[in-house]
Amino acid sequence: MTASAILSKTYKGKWALVTGASAGIGVALAEDLAAAGANLVLTARRVDRLEALAQRLQEQHGIQTRVIPADLADPAAPQQLYEATEGQGLEIDLLINNAGFGYLGEFLRSDLAFQRTMVDVNCAAVVDLTHRYLPGMVKRRRGDILILASTAAYQPVAYMATYAATKVFDRYFAEALAEEVGRYGVRVSALCPGPTESEFGQVAGSRKEEKRKYQPAAEVARLGLEGLVQGKTWVIPYSGGRIQVFAQRFVPRRIITKAAEKMFRPDTVK
Ligand SMILES: NC(=O)c1ccc[n+]([C@@H]2O[C@H](COP(=O)([O-])OP(=O)(O)OC[C@H]3O[C@@H](n4cnc5c(N)ncnc54)[C@H](OP(=O)(O)O)[C@@H]3O)[C@@H](O)[C@H]2O)c1
Repeated sequence: MTASAILSKTYKGKWALVTGASAGIGVALAEDLAAAGANLVLTARRVDRLEALAQRLQEQHGIQTRVIPADLADPAAPQQLYEATEGQGLEIDLLINNAGFGYLGEFLRSDLAFQRTMVDVNCAAVVDLTHRYLPGMVKRRRGDILILASTAAYQPVAYMATYAATKVFDRYFAEALAEEVGRYGVRVSALCPGPTESEFGQVAGSRKEEKRKYQPAAEVARLGLEGLVQGKTWVIPYSGGRIQVFAQRFVPRRIITKAAEKMFRPDTVK
């Protein structure tokens, strides 16, 4: 069976909740799931974008959609989101914890509120949503959870210190949970992209580097979903990233960390 046939067999007519569905990888995940016949709950802060996406996917694929705006930096948001889907009688069979953002620059000179919010959105909201939707999946003996980590989760990254640390959290959380809940028929996977075409750099305050290769978000989304349904507990969606992560095992972490510091050092730091 082809990967797209497996996706369709798994998700056709089921409800998927995608966080961060207003841009980048979240849009691409929603597009793939809609093509597979999944019904979608789309959430993020920019409601106009969510509504336009929902309408387009409904028309293209004849699926059902719901738009529920939420700011996941608000500690009350995951519960409100959960109550909204429960209140509408939607059984969420696929939870995608995709919303997230980064910051590139010196931690010392960064805004504390921005750093705190990064931890709230990238980590706390992921734990909260997962804890709320997991029991229903276990009860039904089926369900999937995809968590966006990053290749930044494989080593400390100076000038992205908090961001990389949040992504280690996401990756370890996903991989550990996968081992806990597999016995209940629930699959969990950490999707670990490298540089991907999206609005991430703009939000993180980094300039787009012409020499750097950015992977299309559609490719990242497709490989992440395929890995999830194939039962992979983590996916690095490009060969360069897999090679880098493998090779790093043979080099002391201090050396890797120093190399990353040189690579990401802003021009303002002498
Ligand atoms: N692009 C990359 O190179 C890359 C690499 C590795 C991992 N990732 C991970 O992939 C995920 C998606 O990022 P992306 O690259 O697609 O970036 P993006 O284009 O900037 O999209 C980020 C999404 O997260 C949502 N979001 C941000 N803050 C939020 C908040 N407070 N409440 C609710 N939603 C919020 C945004 O929606 P609103 O602004 O409308 O709320 C947007 O939909 C992130 O977890 C990121 O860490 C990205």
